[in-house]
Amino acid sequence: MSWDPSLYLSFADLRLRPALDLLARIHLSAPARVADLGCGAGNVTAWLARRWPHAAITGVDNSAAMLASAQASLPRADWELADLATWQPAEQFDLVYSNAALHWLDGHQTLFPRLVRAVRPGGVLAIQMPNNFGSPSHLSAHAAALDGPWAERLRPLLRERPVLPPADYYDLLAPLGKSVDIWETEYMHILDGDNPVADWNKGALLVPLLGALDEPHKTGFEARYRELVAAAYTRRPDGKTLFPFRRLFIVLQTPDV
Ligand SMILES: C[S@@+](CC[C@H](N)C(=O)[O-])C[C@H]1O[C@@H](n2cnc3c(N)ncnc32)[C@H](O)[C@@H]1O
Repeated sequence: MSWDPSLYLSFADLRLRPALDLLARIHLSAPARVADLGCGAGNVTAWLARRWPHAAITGVDNSAAMLASAQASLPRADWELADLATWQPAEQFDLVYSNAALHWLDGHQTLFPRLVRAVRPGGVLAIQMPNNFGSPSHLSAHAAALDGPWAERLRPLLRERPVLPPADYYDLLAPLGKSVDIWETEYMHILDGDNPVADWNKGALLVPLLGALDEPHKTGFEARYRELVAAAYTRRPDGKTLFPFRRLFIVLQTPDV
């Protein structure tokens, strides 16, 4: 999978808002150790560093390109190239934070309890994930993936339900925490451009699909996706495109023991 920091950051302002909404619900005054899982280009990590200037910050990601960009923007943090599917920190953190990353991993029933174990007593696990998988922008990716000579290559990469229903996270996490807060927010992004929803997803949702294809199928698949998305998200009379985007938030505080 090949992430492109500049493509992903082309909607950085709008992508930042849920990260800050999550940050606002973390009630820790002076965490000593903070981890940002799936830290990407480090722009959200920088907000963690700004909020807790004395904390030791570790960003974890399995994309070398994203980490190189992160390292350049925030040299004072530690950057760890690791796959979160197997990540086992040597020492616990006061805060384990993850914005828009864990939906890329399967097996949340085992992953999330493992992440709780990475948090010190009295600490916080804070997670935000897109929960927009029934929306036309995502369904169009599946439809385009199966509508062309690239279908056999892409079919195994399609993931129907990367995120569990909110109540499942409650059942999984409430027994492990002192308190758990779960909520969803649907943002109404107001976008400029000819086909901005396709541009948005080219930097995230489509990354593994485009990364699996060579030419001419790569261009063919993207063109089919752009066509479907343009039909699903039509421009308003003022030229703007509205992109509703639902996200799931979880903040768990671990027991003080
Ligand atoms: C959508 S970006 C989010 C980046 C950042 N958290 C932000 O909010 O801007 C998702 C990030 O998760 C990382 N990622 C996806 N799967 C991963 C895995 N299994 N292990 C570590 N990082 C992963 C990707 O490399 C990418 O940088």
